[in-house]
Amino acid sequence: MPASDRHPEENGTTAQAAGARAGACTSPETARTAPSDARPGSGFLLRFHLAERLAHWLYALFFLGAFLSGVLMWAPATREWMGGARQTVSRYHAFVGLAMVLLPLLVMLVMDRHRLRQNLREVDLWTGEDRRWLLLALRGYSLRGKPMPAQGRFNAGQKLNVVLVTAMAVGFAATGGILMHKASLPAWLVTRALWLHGFLAVVACALFLGHLAHVFITRHGRHYLKGMVTGRVPEWLARERHQRWWEQHLGAEVSEKPMKEPEV
Ligand code: HEM
Ligand code: HEM
Repeated sequence: MPASDRHPEENGTTAQAAGARAGACTSPETARTAPSDARPGSGFLLRFHLAERLAHWLYALFFLGAFLSGVLMWAPATREWMGGARQTVSRYHAFVGLAMVLLPLLVMLVMDRHRLRQNLREVDLWTGEDRRWLLLALRGYSLRGKPMPAQGRFNAGQKLNVVLVTAMAVGFAATGGILMHKASLPAWLVTRALWLHGFLAVVACALFLGHLAHVFITRHGRHYLKGMVTGRVPEWLARERHQRWWEQHLGAEVSEKPMKEPEV
């Protein structure tokens, strides 16, 4: 990535990280065990800008709100218990759902449009290494800690997650919009929209549980979580799991130690 394309915050971190390369940051163990490394610039790379973190947590918060209110309306016991209040819950649910889709988008558009464009480009670009990574991950290589093809800032699984979450946001908004106007629309359209809306809710819930499992069960999850909270991840994590991204930050010298790519 050319330096002019980078966020000012990112340029600072990169330069400092490059300066610190010969020290603790090149040793995964040192970086992991020395809490003083948490100082910006000493062995950490900027992974998420403020706008990205804000957008992610807003999406997560409103997703949970929409999910809970949706389940309350759907489960027969709570549906009966709510009685006439169901109409009000339905209205609030629809507003929470719309906020889930619109607020994160607005945050990115207002706060960091450049980064939004950059993320869209990154997620849209699938290299041969990405395809091989996904194939191997589906065969369980990544979970078993086997060597994987080098990846950019987002690995192929993370790219797929972004694509699925975005597609489902569009699906929720379209089917939810139909349900909001069900009184004035043909019954066949409302029935299909309701079915699709429920189906999307089940798929989104499964994807969300997989996402949480990745964050809380895997060896790297807690470092990714810190990245989504503070914006920064340890340099060794970038080197181990996002080598192409690490190379962009630290220059060509990294090819001293190429990662072995398995045969597919
Ligand atoms: C733009 C986003 C969304 C909009 C506009 C929206 C709107 C609606 C509306 C109008 C209803 C019908 C309520 C009724 O029958 O009176 C509904 C039902 C429901 N929604 Fe959403 N929703 C959205 C997002 C979500 C999300 C993200 C989830 C879950 C993750 C979800 C889960 C549900 C469930 C489970 C139902 C009940 C379906 C049933 O009764 O069978 N919705 N939604
Ligand atoms: C409240 C629980 C949640 C936690 C703890 C959590 C945690 C995280 C973390 C740590 C990352 C960064 C991974 C990385 O560095 O690439 C991330 C990324 C992401 N999250 Fe969440 N998240 C939560 C909820 C959600 C929800 C509800 C959605 C959408 C339905 C979501 C969608 C995404 C997407 C699309 C990404 C970027 C791609 C990826 O890294 O997989 N997250 N999340």
